[in-house]
Amino acid sequence: MDILSNYSLKAFNTFGVEATSRYFVAVHTEAELQAALVDPQFKNLAKLILGGGSNILLTADFPGVVIRVNLKGKRIVERDAAATYVEVAAGENWHEFVCWTLAQGWAGLENLSLIPGSVGAAPMQNIGAYGVELKDTFHSLTALDSVTGLVKTFARDACRFGYRDSVFKRELKDRVVITHVTFRLPHDAPLRLDYGDVRAELAQMGVSSPTTRDVSLAVINIRRRKLPDPAQIGNAGSFFKNPVITRNEFERLRALHETLPHFPVHEGHVKVPAAWLIEQAGWKGRCLGRAGVHEQHALVLVNLGGASGAEVLALAQAVQLAVRDQFGIALEAEPVII
Ligand code: EPU
Repeated sequence: MDILSNYSLKAFNTFGVEATSRYFVAVHTEAELQAALVDPQFKNLAKLILGGGSNILLTADFPGVVIRVNLKGKRIVERDAAATYVEVAAGENWHEFVCWTLAQGWAGLENLSLIPGSVGAAPMQNIGAYGVELKDTFHSLTALDSVTGLVKTFARDACRFGYRDSVFKRELKDRVVITHVTFRLPHDAPLRLDYGDVRAELAQMGVSSPTTRDVSLAVINIRRRKLPDPAQIGNAGSFFKNPVITRNEFERLRALHETLPHFPVHEGHVKVPAAWLIEQAGWKGRCLGRAGVHEQHALVLVNLGGASGAEVLALAQAVQLAVRDQFGIALEAEPVII
């Protein structure tokens, strides 16, 4: 296990911002991860666990140790008539894993195609897209206690998944490191085509009886059209969560803004698209320094070239202020801000 000092994290965050870490270790096995967690030289240092770096904004150099989880591998744990249970290591690339499951003929992850990042990061924020969330096919996960290095298992309920939320972002923040995730993938499941442009895209593709792979391709097409590729232009996907407001609050706003889009969620609450609020507030396509709001999608903040994390944060705050002034809604950032 090589311990590197004052190491550049530019290649390890999809915003592509420059920041260094005091120490950097890449771990390839559970034993290496355990050793890094309890290493006496890191005892009093802050630890940052990094997967694909696709949901993080580094606003300054990190004074502690960055542990990059490179655990690889996938295996079938169990198979019954209805589903296959597959365990995948945290360091596997999410999209490659999705493609692999579809190639095996298993359903469930097709709508989650092309989401950047690693498997280990996916449960942290219960990744979601096109009407599907990770929790829908999640079975369990194993993690290491970040202080003792001991193994812990979490069943679905223990993860307390919510909209872009889990216990790992809350009570257990920085307390555990996810090493493996197990999914229950049905052999046959109804396709979820009702969100946004999925059906229209399939029609455009000339597909009338879609397979899971067709749905995956449709999602890939939509994402490629709307969302910037982090390899070309630095970004971390949606920068803000879609706010959930009370129905009363929604009625008050709709009286002022007739076209306000909304999606019902739980009893008495609606979700409104943050992208719409940002666009109405005049920020779509605008920039502040070398950071900008993406021209194609107002929910994505981008590094226009050489932006610092602090510049991206300043832009995020300006957007939050504008939306709060105009609509009285506080936008919550989705990525972890360091
Ligand atoms: N809209 C605008 N202006 C824009 C873009 C969108 O007004 O520039 C409005 C439209 O009314 C549109 C609505 O926002 O109907 C919703 O837009 P979209 O379908 O693109 O989805 P989103 O709510 O902005 C969410 C997820 C995405 C996910 C898509 C598709 C969050 C925070 N984001 O975005 O996830 O891909 O739905 O399911 O929930 C991510 O988390 O990084 C991410 C990309």
